Amino acid sequence: MTPTAAHLASIRTPLLGWYDRNKRDLPWRRTKDPYAIWLSEVMLQQTQVSTVIPYWERFLARFPTVLALASAPLDDVLAGWKGLGYYSRARNLHRAAQEIVSRFGGKLPSSAEDLLSLPGFGRYTSGAVASIAFGEEAPLVDGNVARVFSRLFEVEGPPGDREREATLWELATLLVKGERPGDFNQSLMEHGATTCRPENPLCLLCPVRDACGAFRAGRVDELPPAKVRATPKKLTLALAVWSHADTLLFARRADSGLFGGLWELPAAEVDEDATPEETTLRLTAALGAGVRLESQLGTVKRQLTHRDLTLRLYRVSGPQRPSRSESFQELRWCTPTEAAALGMSTAMQRALEAAMTALA
Ligand code: ADE
Repeated sequence: MTPTAAHLASIRTPLLGWYDRNKRDLPWRRTKDPYAIWLSEVMLQQTQVSTVIPYWERFLARFPTVLALASAPLDDVLAGWKGLGYYSRARNLHRAAQEIVSRFGGKLPSSAEDLLSLPGFGRYTSGAVASIAFGEEAPLVDGNVARVFSRLFEVEGPPGDREREATLWELATLLVKGERPGDFNQSLMEHGATTCRPENPLCLLCPVRDACGAFRAGRVDELPPAKVRATPKKLTLALAVWSHADTLLFARRADSGLFGGLWELPAAEVDEDATPEETTLRLTAALGAGVRLESQLGTVKRQLTHRDLTLRLYRVSGPQRPSRSESFQELRWCTPTEAAALGMSTAMQRALEAAMTALA
């Protein structure tokens, strides 16, 4: 599909004008600092605007520059991210900051091509930062933009379809060329977030209705087709609540995988119907030290996007208190208050609270 120059202009001009009149007053739209803009785009990728605002402000106060972020210990960065989820974003942010210091003298590179070489920068983030912070005519497609294009141009296929994705990026590349590419990209996202919404889109208020293929064909409700989502996998973890004096045993997970690099009550995956004997074996293997189950302290359930998480809390003891284990980066005996400052997932915080309540 190759839209004509006139068709492109009939979308670009009204959308930019609409954006100028209707854009939300968001704090990252008041700054020109590429680092602050980059941070907002990373946070916004899997988190909604109202949640991001206070996090963005706090994170910037704590790590005001690329250099400050690059020199901070990873634990501090993860602690600053606590509650936002998808912690690989924070680890990549930290690694990218260090590369920006070592490879680019502490200044973000200005082209999408160079940005793409940094950890955590995919096509979306590279396009967003290059266009919004540096004014490059760099395309971007996120979920909102994909929906807007699929309606405007009647792009068929479900989200995730390879051919559909390629078409969407081609369209983004054609449309972004022209004045104010950063504002234009934001107008697409803003339009998708507020007007061309997934459910009940506000077509009567739409600035590009006349150019919209789906509107003309009466297909707005069927485009884009619903994503075929895999049902979340069940994951059951047994958590060791091992107390000594006023401390508990905490562990830091390996960097990769679910909750990578975060602190937790030492956890071992168990079958949903695991017997106490099996649970004992799993926790013993994870901690590399003999473990005795004393009692079950409760269960915490959390629904993540791709996981049905069940956390089973067990009070445990053993003949030898471990201080190192193969399965974890680090073990530490500390008070729950000290542990809370280390960087734990929200799921694990809930589990810790449940454990403290049960122990009290
Ligand atoms: N979603 C992610 N980044 C955005 C931006 N800069 N403007 C509007 N919506 C967004």
